[in-house]
Amino acid sequence: MGLLDGKVAIITGAGGGIGRAEALLFAREGARVVVNDVGGARDGVGSDDAPARKVVEEIRAAGGEAVASFDSVASPEGAVRIVGAAVEAFGRVDVLVNNAGILRDKTLLKTDVALWDAVVDVHLKGTFLCTQAAARQMVSQGGGGRIVNTTSVSGMLGNFGQSNYAAAKAGIYGLTRTAAIELQKQRITVNAIAPIAKTRMTEDLPMFQSAGDTMTPEHVAPAALFLGSDLCADRTGHVLAVAGSQMYAYKVVQTHGKFKDEGAVWTAQEIAENWDAIIKV
Ligand code: NAI
Repeated sequence: MGLLDGKVAIITGAGGGIGRAEALLFAREGARVVVNDVGGARDGVGSDDAPARKVVEEIRAAGGEAVASFDSVASPEGAVRIVGAAVEAFGRVDVLVNNAGILRDKTLLKTDVALWDAVVDVHLKGTFLCTQAAARQMVSQGGGGRIVNTTSVSGMLGNFGQSNYAAAKAGIYGLTRTAAIELQKQRITVNAIAPIAKTRMTEDLPMFQSAGDTMTPEHVAPAALFLGSDLCADRTGHVLAVAGSQMYAYKVVQTHGKFKDEGAVWTAQEIAENWDAIIKV
């Protein structure tokens, strides 16, 4: 018995890295999988069918069922075709993992609009478009489903040189929270993972020069499986962080704050004087 027996799952950006590990694990757990990937470079330039085809072959060689999709998540037509590929091949969609991503790092002062748009388009717009297309399909099936987004420590806490990427990933957090609220009635859960793993996206970071095999995509995939399975039927709107053997969560916290009498207006000086009490968790 697999955790995803009888389910149809779409995983975007599944031609390599974390998405590939998710696709292989989902298929092992019984899902029929759409392996989507444009096959571009780390910065999103170019396209190649080979990575998605190769993962489909790996799944089939292991006895699983999969089809490839080469559309970009960043175009409305592409997102509709990705969902259409699942319906055409397997008749339905039960799980969507929004994983596709690119990097174009530069400091804020040097980030031009092209760098901004490219990254926000793939991560944030792509997550919106695929979520909308998949959720519409899930609703048309009578409801029920799992959507797993991919955010990042960069979006949750910020990171030097990643204003475009961090903004997109923080946007995915807001989208996850709102989609979770809106789709609850249709029994569709919407959660996110915030992974850290050695992939082509991160392999040149200093931390991965020594991390060896302790932070792999295979360490991350079970978190997506959990959020994509019925083990997570009652949990929505969460961000599950996974880095090697560490499993934790990100939460936005509203402090207890400090309240004045109803209707009273704070002065800037009073805010300064009460700062510690206002921000205390
Ligand atoms: P990766 O570069 O190995 O995988 C990303 C995949 O997305 C690639 O195969 C790429 O071809 C595909 N892709 C890019 N643009 C696409 C588009 N428009 N349409 C369809 N596919 C597209 O990188 P990795 O590390 O596996 O990243 C996966 C996700 O995890 C990304 O969303 C990334 O931002 C996120 N992430 C990764 C971290 C890490 O430590 N590796 C840290 C935090 C977040």
